[in-house]
Amino acid sequence: MEIWIEKYRPGKLSDIYGQDEVVSRLESFVKEKQLPHLIFAGPAGVGKTSAAIALTRELLGENWKDSFLELNASDERGIDIIRENVKEFARIKPFNDLGLRIIFLDEADQLTSDAQAALRRTMERFSATTRFIFSCNYSTQIIPPIQSRAVVMRFHQLSDDDLKSYLKFVISKENMTLDEDALDAICEVSSGDARKATSILQTLKYSGEKSPKAIFEMSGNLEPADFEKIIKLAMEGLFDEAVDLIEKLTVDRGYSAIDLIKGMHSFIRKQRIGQKQKLAIIEALAEAEFKLVEGGSDRVQLDALMAKLSWIGQELN
Ligand SMILES: Nc1ncnc2c1ncn2[C@@H]1O[C@H](COP(=O)(O)OP(=O)(O)OP(=O)(O)O)[C@@H](O)[C@H]1O
Ligand SMILES: [Mg+2]
Repeated sequence: MEIWIEKYRPGKLSDIYGQDEVVSRLESFVKEKQLPHLIFAGPAGVGKTSAAIALTRELLGENWKDSFLELNASDERGIDIIRENVKEFARIKPFNDLGLRIIFLDEADQLTSDAQAALRRTMERFSATTRFIFSCNYSTQIIPPIQSRAVVMRFHQLSDDDLKSYLKFVISKENMTLDEDALDAICEVSSGDARKATSILQTLKYSGEKSPKAIFEMSGNLEPADFEKIIKLAMEGLFDEAVDLIEKLTVDRGYSAIDLIKGMHSFIRKQRIGQKQKLAIIEALAEAEFKLVEGGSDRVQLDALMAKLSWIGQELN
């Protein structure tokens, strides 16, 4: 069985969804036949590795594989191995018109500053014929001397619209049918991560399940209906019932207070309710989240949140 995240890896830059600005800048490098060092910054599963491969293929032509090296910085064997690999690779003559090799270093932000500094020296040494593409979540975690030698490309989470277009493309290739509800559920649980969305879609195909409920379950996410219930109970002043439900979700099903708060937040953002109430609820959620991150206790903060929602439900209309 072929894994869909490989089967549907965008082959060309123009096949990448939702990263228009990055794609058009990369395409201009291809057109001009030149390449600076690059930093690809962005969250998981949005096309960084795919873009590096597509770029290399378009820039270097048919023998691109001989001139492309992918390394993972979080490999526990560390920076020495990376430098060895780079040196070894730099010995091979690049067989392409540009005379270039491209090294893609995944999870570059996992390297310590010292390791990055060592890498920078290696980078300088081979800079005549070798370009580096560093992949990371945040470009700020790359040391300034590397940042200043590279062009930063920012990748974003796919918007629901872009993610849906991509999913619909895969769905049509696979002769599947899926309701709009199910597509919405996939978007909701994958938060712009196209890899996650693709895996869910493949699981759906092989399990025969298609309901939003199944999608929430297989992703380990709670359903919007759960959050709706908590908020409703609290706002109607049914504090004990709300707390009981929370107890069930946290103690019996293992969700953390932060999971619940994030879920309530994403639920309430989409609701068309009175503006005053909506803003007050969002503020209450933000306060609870902040206090939890600062070390507040789950139970106390969730109780306080329920109390606040109850007040909002009674006092604001
Ligand atoms: N922008 C996108 N357009 C189309 N498919 C995508 C996109 N981003 C990710 N995918 C899908 O997810 C798979 C994995 O994407 P990719 O490896 O490029 O993500 P990444 O950004 O490198 O993630 P990570 O940071 O976790 O390495 C692709 O093979 C493809 O199926
Ligand atoms: Mg990657």
